[in-house]
Amino acid sequence: MEPAQDWIGPRPHKLDWNDLYLRLSVTDACNFRCQYCRPVIEEHANEANFLSFEGIERLIGWCYDRGSRKVRLTGGEPLLRRNFPELVGRIHSRFSDIDLSLSTNGLKLPKVARDLREAGLDRINISLDTLNREKFKSLTGVDGLSTVLESIEVSQEVGFDPVKLNVVLLRGTNEDELADLVRFALERNLYIRFIEYMPHCKTETNRFEVFSSREALDILSKEFQFSPVEENDRPIGSGPAKYWNVKGYDLPIGLISSVTEDICANCHRLRVTARGELVRCIQLDLFENIRAIIEEDRPEEFYSIMEEAYEQRLPTRPEGHVFFLGMQLVQTGG
Ligand code: 5AD
Ligand code: SF4
Repeated sequence: MEPAQDWIGPRPHKLDWNDLYLRLSVTDACNFRCQYCRPVIEEHANEANFLSFEGIERLIGWCYDRGSRKVRLTGGEPLLRRNFPELVGRIHSRFSDIDLSLSTNGLKLPKVARDLREAGLDRINISLDTLNREKFKSLTGVDGLSTVLESIEVSQEVGFDPVKLNVVLLRGTNEDELADLVRFALERNLYIRFIEYMPHCKTETNRFEVFSSREALDILSKEFQFSPVEENDRPIGSGPAKYWNVKGYDLPIGLISSVTEDICANCHRLRVTARGELVRCIQLDLFENIRAIIEEDRPEEFYSIMEEAYEQRLPTRPEGHVFFLGMQLVQTGG
Protein backbone atom coordinates (compact mmCIF):
# COMPACT_ATOMS: atom_id res chain seq x y z
CA MET A 1 0.00 0.00 0.00
CA GLU A 2 1.25 3.45 -0.86
CA PRO A 3 0.92 6.29 1.61
CA ALA A 4 -2.19 8.30 0.95
CA GLN A 5 -1.41 11.44 -0.99
CA ASP A 6 -4.44 13.12 -2.41
CA TRP A 7 -5.62 14.99 0.65
CA ILE A 8 -8.65 17.17 0.38
CA GLY A 9 -9.18 20.74 1.45
CA PRO A 10 -7.06 22.87 3.72
CA ARG A 11 -7.73 22.79 7.42
CA PRO A 12 -10.25 25.47 8.15
CA HIS A 13 -8.69 27.04 11.18
CA LYS A 14 -5.77 29.20 12.06
CA LEU A 15 -3.73 28.52 15.15
CA ASP A 16 -5.63 29.60 18.21
CA TRP A 17 -2.93 29.56 20.84
CA ASN A 18 -5.46 28.87 23.59
CA ASP A 19 -6.19 25.52 21.94
CA LEU A 20 -2.62 24.55 21.21
CA TYR A 21 -1.57 21.22 22.63
CA LEU A 22 2.19 21.13 22.61
CA ARG A 23 3.80 17.70 22.68
CA LEU A 24 7.45 17.87 23.48
CA SER A 25 9.79 14.96 23.08
CA VAL A 26 12.69 15.20 25.51
CA THR A 27 14.75 12.31 24.13
CA ASP A 28 14.57 9.92 21.21
CA ALA A 29 16.25 7.12 23.14
CA CYS A 30 14.10 4.28 24.38
CA ASN A 31 14.72 1.29 26.63
CA PHE A 32 12.02 -0.75 24.86
CA ARG A 33 11.95 -2.07 21.32
CA CYS A 34 8.23 -2.27 20.75
CA GLN A 35 7.61 -4.24 17.59
CA TYR A 36 5.19 -1.65 16.29
CA CYS A 37 7.55 1.24 16.93
CA ARG A 38 11.03 -0.17 17.07
CA PRO A 39 13.43 2.68 17.65
CA VAL A 40 16.40 2.73 15.35
CA ILE A 41 18.06 5.51 17.29
CA GLU A 42 21.20 4.66 19.24
CA GLU A 43 20.66 3.74 22.87
CA HIS A 44 22.94 6.39 24.29
CA ALA A 45 21.41 9.39 22.71
CA ASN A 46 23.72 12.33 22.54
CA GLU A 47 22.00 14.85 24.73
CA ALA A 48 24.23 17.57 23.32
CA ASN A 49 21.99 17.42 20.23
CA PHE A 50 18.85 17.91 22.24
CA LEU A 51 17.08 21.09 23.20
CA SER A 52 18.49 22.25 26.51
CA PHE A 53 16.30 22.58 29.59
CA GLU A 54 16.57 26.36 29.16
CA GLY A 55 15.41 25.95 25.57
CA ILE A 56 12.48 23.77 26.58
CA GLU A 57 11.46 26.29 29.23
CA ARG A 58 11.73 29.13 26.74
CA LEU A 59 9.68 27.27 24.15
CA ILE A 60 6.95 26.51 26.68
CA GLY A 61 7.09 30.11 27.90
CA TRP A 62 6.55 31.49 24.41
CA CYS A 63 3.51 29.29 23.94
CA TYR A 64 2.32 30.17 27.44
CA ASP A 65 2.56 33.90 26.73
CA ARG A 66 0.14 33.47 23.83
CA GLY A 67 -2.33 31.49 25.94
CA SER A 68 -1.39 27.83 25.56
CA ARG A 69 -1.84 25.83 28.76
CA LYS A 70 -1.40 22.24 27.72
CA VAL A 71 1.92 20.44 27.44
CA ARG A 72 2.73 16.77 27.23
CA LEU A 73 6.28 15.50 27.68
CA THR A 74 7.07 12.46 25.55
CA GLY A 75 10.02 10.58 24.04
CA GLY A 76 11.31 8.06 23.05
CA GLU A 77 11.14 7.25 26.70
CA PRO A 78 11.20 10.59 28.52
CA LEU A 79 12.49 9.16 31.79
CA LEU A 80 15.77 8.40 30.02
CA ARG A 81 16.48 12.11 29.74
CA ARG A 82 19.06 12.98 32.38
CA ASN A 83 17.62 14.95 35.32
CA PHE A 84 14.12 14.67 33.95
CA PRO A 85 12.39 15.41 37.31
CA GLU A 86 14.39 18.64 37.46
CA LEU A 87 12.96 19.64 34.09
CA VAL A 88 9.44 18.97 35.33
CA GLY A 89 10.14 21.06 38.43
CA ARG A 90 11.45 23.94 36.36
CA ILE A 91 8.43 23.92 34.08
CA HIS A 92 5.98 23.63 36.94
CA SER A 93 7.53 26.36 39.06
CA ARG A 94 7.44 28.86 36.20
CA PHE A 95 4.10 27.86 34.68
CA SER A 96 2.13 26.34 37.50
CA ASP A 97 -1.24 26.57 35.73
CA ILE A 98 -0.13 24.52 32.74
CA ASP A 99 -1.75 21.11 32.44
CA LEU A 100 1.50 19.15 32.38
CA SER A 101 1.38 15.47 31.50
CA LEU A 102 3.76 12.66 30.67
CA SER A 103 3.69 9.62 28.40
CA THR A 104 6.00 6.84 29.55
CA ASN A 105 6.54 3.13 29.13
CA GLY A 106 6.84 2.90 32.92
CA LEU A 107 10.07 0.96 33.14
CA LYS A 108 11.93 3.61 35.11
CA LEU A 109 8.87 5.07 36.76
CA PRO A 110 8.72 3.27 40.12
CA LYS A 111 11.88 5.02 41.27
CA VAL A 112 10.96 8.53 40.14
CA ALA A 113 7.17 8.68 40.35
CA ARG A 114 7.20 10.45 43.71
CA ASP A 115 9.83 12.97 42.58
CA LEU A 116 7.78 13.72 39.49
CA ARG A 117 4.61 14.22 41.47
CA GLU A 118 6.40 16.49 43.92
CA ALA A 119 7.96 18.38 41.04
CA GLY A 120 4.46 19.28 39.85
CA LEU A 121 3.55 16.79 37.16
CA ASP A 122 -0.25 16.51 36.96
CA ARG A 123 -1.07 13.52 34.84
CA ILE A 124 0.57 10.42 33.54
CA ASN A 125 -0.09 7.96 30.69
CA ILE A 126 1.55 4.57 30.80
CA SER A 127 1.72 2.15 27.87
CA LEU A 128 0.43 -1.32 28.61
CA ASP A 129 -0.36 -3.53 25.63
CA THR A 130 -0.56 -6.90 27.34
CA LEU A 131 -0.87 -8.44 30.80
CA ASN A 132 1.02 -11.54 29.77
CA ARG A 133 4.67 -11.62 30.76
CA GLU A 134 5.89 -13.60 27.76
CA LYS A 135 3.94 -11.52 25.27
CA PHE A 136 5.18 -8.36 26.92
CA LYS A 137 8.72 -9.60 26.59
CA SER A 138 8.42 -10.50 22.94
CA LEU A 139 6.55 -7.30 22.11
CA THR A 140 8.89 -4.85 23.86
CA GLY A 141 12.13 -6.80 23.97
CA VAL A 142 12.22 -6.38 27.75
CA ASP A 143 11.07 -8.66 30.55
CA GLY A 144 9.48 -5.69 32.23
CA LEU A 145 5.80 -6.40 32.83
CA SER A 146 6.07 -6.61 36.60
CA THR A 147 7.97 -3.31 36.76
CA VAL A 148 5.38 -1.61 34.59
CA LEU A 149 2.59 -2.98 36.76
CA GLU A 150 4.46 -1.65 39.77
CA SER A 151 4.81 1.72 38.08
CA ILE A 152 1.04 1.89 37.67
CA GLU A 153 0.50 1.16 41.35
CA VAL A 154 3.13 3.63 42.49
CA SER A 155 1.72 6.34 40.23
CA GLN A 156 -1.63 6.03 41.94
CA GLU A 157 -0.07 5.89 45.39
CA VAL A 158 1.82 9.13 44.90
CA GLY A 159 -1.32 10.87 43.72
CA PHE A 160 -1.39 11.08 39.93
CA ASP A 161 -4.97 11.52 38.90
CA PRO A 162 -5.94 10.30 36.47
CA VAL A 163 -3.48 7.58 35.61
CA LYS A 164 -4.22 6.50 32.05
CA LEU A 165 -3.23 3.31 30.31
CA ASN A 166 -2.61 3.30 26.57
CA VAL A 167 -3.12 0.03 24.75
CA VAL A 168 -2.26 -0.30 21.08
CA LEU A 169 -4.69 -2.69 19.37
CA LEU A 170 -2.52 -5.44 17.95
CA ARG A 171 -4.08 -8.24 16.03
CA GLY A 172 -2.73 -11.61 17.02
CA THR A 173 -1.15 -10.17 20.14
CA ASN A 174 -3.75 -8.68 22.44
CA GLU A 175 -7.12 -9.21 20.77
CA ASP A 176 -7.78 -12.04 23.23
CA GLU A 177 -6.87 -9.85 26.20
CA LEU A 178 -9.05 -6.81 25.65
CA ALA A 179 -11.61 -7.75 28.29
CA ASP A 180 -8.89 -8.60 30.81
CA LEU A 181 -7.27 -5.24 30.19
CA VAL A 182 -10.58 -3.43 30.67
CA ARG A 183 -11.22 -5.28 33.94
CA PHE A 184 -7.66 -4.69 35.09
CA ALA A 185 -8.08 -0.95 34.55
CA LEU A 186 -11.60 -0.39 35.78
CA GLU A 187 -11.14 -2.41 38.94
CA ARG A 188 -8.18 -0.21 39.80
CA ASN A 189 -9.74 3.12 38.89
CA LEU A 190 -7.51 3.58 35.86
CA TYR A 191 -8.56 5.14 32.60
CA ILE A 192 -7.87 2.86 29.68
CA ARG A 193 -7.68 3.85 26.05
CA PHE A 194 -7.32 1.55 23.09
CA ILE A 195 -5.46 3.01 20.14
CA GLU A 196 -5.56 1.69 16.61
CA TYR A 197 -2.18 0.59 15.40
CA MET A 198 -0.88 3.05 12.84
CA PRO A 199 1.27 1.52 10.11
CA HIS A 200 4.55 3.17 9.21
CA CYS A 201 5.35 3.94 5.63
CA LYS A 202 9.09 3.93 6.12
CA THR A 203 9.94 1.06 8.40
CA GLU A 204 9.63 -2.67 8.25
CA THR A 205 7.47 -2.68 11.38
CA ASN A 206 4.38 -2.96 9.24
CA ARG A 207 3.57 -6.46 10.38
CA PHE A 208 0.39 -5.65 12.27
CA GLU A 209 -2.81 -5.45 10.34
CA VAL A 210 -5.21 -2.66 11.03
CA PHE A 211 -7.38 -3.66 13.95
CA SER A 212 -10.23 -1.22 14.23
CA SER A 213 -11.60 0.19 17.44
CA ARG A 214 -15.06 -0.79 16.15
CA GLU A 215 -13.96 -4.41 16.08
CA ALA A 216 -12.41 -4.03 19.55
CA LEU A 217 -15.70 -2.68 20.84
CA ASP A 218 -17.56 -5.60 19.25
CA ILE A 219 -15.21 -8.05 20.96
CA LEU A 220 -15.64 -6.25 24.28
CA SER A 221 -19.40 -6.08 23.88
CA LYS A 222 -19.54 -9.83 24.41
CA GLU A 223 -18.54 -9.20 28.04
CA PHE A 224 -19.58 -5.62 28.81
CA GLN A 225 -22.49 -3.36 28.16
CA PHE A 226 -21.56 0.04 26.76
CA SER A 227 -23.34 3.36 26.41
CA PRO A 228 -21.79 6.48 24.87
CA VAL A 229 -20.38 9.17 27.16
CA GLU A 230 -22.01 12.58 26.65
CA GLU A 231 -19.75 15.26 25.21
CA ASN A 232 -19.74 17.23 28.50
CA ASP A 233 -18.73 14.26 30.60
CA ARG A 234 -15.57 13.50 28.68
CA PRO A 235 -12.54 12.91 30.90
CA ILE A 236 -9.88 15.59 31.20
CA GLY A 237 -7.36 15.63 28.37
CA SER A 238 -9.48 13.26 26.37
CA GLY A 239 -8.23 14.36 22.95
CA PRO A 240 -9.39 12.28 20.01
CA ALA A 241 -10.69 9.35 22.10
CA LYS A 242 -14.34 8.35 22.05
CA TYR A 243 -15.51 7.28 25.45
CA TRP A 244 -17.98 4.61 26.45
CA ASN A 245 -19.57 4.03 29.85
CA VAL A 246 -19.29 0.47 31.04
CA LYS A 247 -22.24 -0.93 32.94
CA GLY A 248 -21.26 -1.82 36.50
CA TYR A 249 -18.17 0.38 36.58
CA ASP A 250 -17.56 4.03 37.49
CA LEU A 251 -15.07 4.83 34.74
CA PRO A 252 -15.50 4.88 30.99
CA ILE A 253 -13.14 3.32 28.46
CA GLY A 254 -11.70 5.23 25.50
CA LEU A 255 -11.13 4.18 21.92
CA ILE A 256 -8.94 6.14 19.53
CA SER A 257 -9.74 5.47 15.88
CA SER A 258 -6.51 6.91 14.55
CA VAL A 259 -6.77 4.91 11.34
CA THR A 260 -10.40 4.14 10.61
CA GLU A 261 -11.82 7.58 11.36
CA ASP A 262 -10.77 11.06 10.44
CA ILE A 263 -9.65 12.36 13.80
CA CYS A 264 -7.55 15.14 12.27
CA ALA A 265 -10.24 17.79 12.16
CA ASN A 266 -10.15 18.37 15.91
CA CYS A 267 -6.42 18.06 16.33
CA HIS A 268 -4.70 21.02 18.00
CA ARG A 269 -1.33 19.39 18.36
CA LEU A 270 2.08 20.51 17.35
CA ARG A 271 5.07 18.42 18.23
CA VAL A 272 8.66 19.34 18.85
CA THR A 273 11.24 16.58 18.85
CA ALA A 274 14.13 16.31 21.28
CA ARG A 275 16.38 17.68 18.55
CA GLY A 276 14.22 20.73 18.15
CA GLU A 277 12.31 19.77 15.02
CA LEU A 278 8.84 21.19 14.72
CA VAL A 279 6.59 18.41 13.43
CA ARG A 280 3.35 19.44 11.79
CA CYS A 281 1.71 16.07 11.84
CA ILE A 282 2.86 12.53 12.54
CA GLN A 283 1.56 11.54 9.14
CA LEU A 284 4.15 13.67 7.43
CA ASP A 285 7.86 13.22 7.30
CA LEU A 286 8.07 16.98 7.21
CA PHE A 287 9.58 19.20 9.80
CA GLU A 288 11.70 22.25 10.29
CA ASN A 289 14.46 22.49 12.82
CA ILE A 290 13.80 25.36 15.18
CA ARG A 291 16.44 24.50 17.73
CA ALA A 292 18.62 27.51 16.93
CA ILE A 293 15.61 29.80 16.99
CA ILE A 294 14.79 28.57 20.47
CA GLU A 295 18.29 28.43 21.90
CA GLU A 296 19.18 31.83 20.42
CA ASP A 297 16.01 33.36 21.81
CA ARG A 298 14.32 34.52 18.59
CA PRO A 299 10.64 34.58 19.54
CA GLU A 300 9.28 36.44 16.49
CA GLU A 301 10.64 33.81 14.13
CA PHE A 302 9.27 31.13 16.39
CA TYR A 303 5.77 32.56 16.37
CA SER A 304 5.63 32.90 12.63
CA ILE A 305 6.97 29.38 11.99
CA MET A 306 4.52 27.88 14.49
CA GLU A 307 1.55 29.68 12.96
CA GLU A 308 2.54 28.75 9.45
CA ALA A 309 3.20 25.11 10.39
CA TYR A 310 -0.15 24.87 12.10
CA GLU A 311 -2.10 26.39 9.24
CA GLN A 312 -0.37 24.28 6.66
CA ARG A 313 -0.62 21.00 8.42
CA LEU A 314 -2.05 17.99 6.77
CA PRO A 315 -5.39 18.80 5.27
CA THR A 316 -8.30 16.72 6.44
CA ARG A 317 -8.07 13.17 5.21
CA PRO A 318 -10.51 12.03 2.60
CA GLU A 319 -12.99 9.60 4.02
CA GLY A 320 -11.78 6.04 4.15
CA HIS A 321 -8.19 6.94 3.44
CA VAL A 322 -5.56 4.86 5.15
CA PHE A 323 -3.44 6.42 7.81
CA PHE A 324 0.31 6.12 7.51
CA LEU A 325 2.87 7.35 9.97
CA GLY A 326 5.45 9.50 8.31
CA MET A 327 7.53 9.96 11.45
CA GLN A 328 8.70 7.29 13.81
CA LEU A 329 6.92 7.67 17.10
CA VAL A 330 10.15 7.18 18.94
CA GLN A 331 10.99 10.64 17.62
CA THR A 332 7.67 12.31 18.17
CA GLY A 333 6.20 10.40 21.08
CA GLY A 334 2.91 9.63 19.39
N1 5AD B 1 0.55 2.85 16.29
C1 5AD B 1 -0.15 3.27 17.38
N2 5AD B 1 0.42 3.68 18.52
C2 5AD B 1 1.75 3.65 18.59
N3 5AD B 1 2.59 3.98 19.58
C3 5AD B 1 3.85 3.78 19.15
N4 5AD B 1 3.85 3.31 17.87
C4 5AD B 1 2.56 3.22 17.50
C5 5AD B 1 1.90 2.81 16.32
N5 5AD B 1 2.58 2.40 15.24
C6 5AD B 1 2.13 4.46 20.89
C7 5AD B 1 2.72 3.77 22.07
C8 5AD B 1 2.66 4.80 23.14
C9 5AD B 1 2.75 6.09 22.39
C10 5AD B 1 4.09 6.72 22.57
O1 5AD B 1 2.53 5.81 21.03
O2 5AD B 1 2.05 2.66 22.52
O3 5AD B 1 1.45 4.74 23.87
FE1 SF4 C 1 7.74 1.30 22.76
FE2 SF4 C 1 7.20 3.89 23.20
FE3 SF4 C 1 9.72 3.00 23.24
FE4 SF4 C 1 8.36 3.13 20.94
S1 SF4 C 1 8.96 4.86 22.21
S2 SF4 C 1 9.70 1.44 21.65
S3 SF4 C 1 6.30 2.61 21.64
S4 SF4 C 1 8.09 2.40 24.64
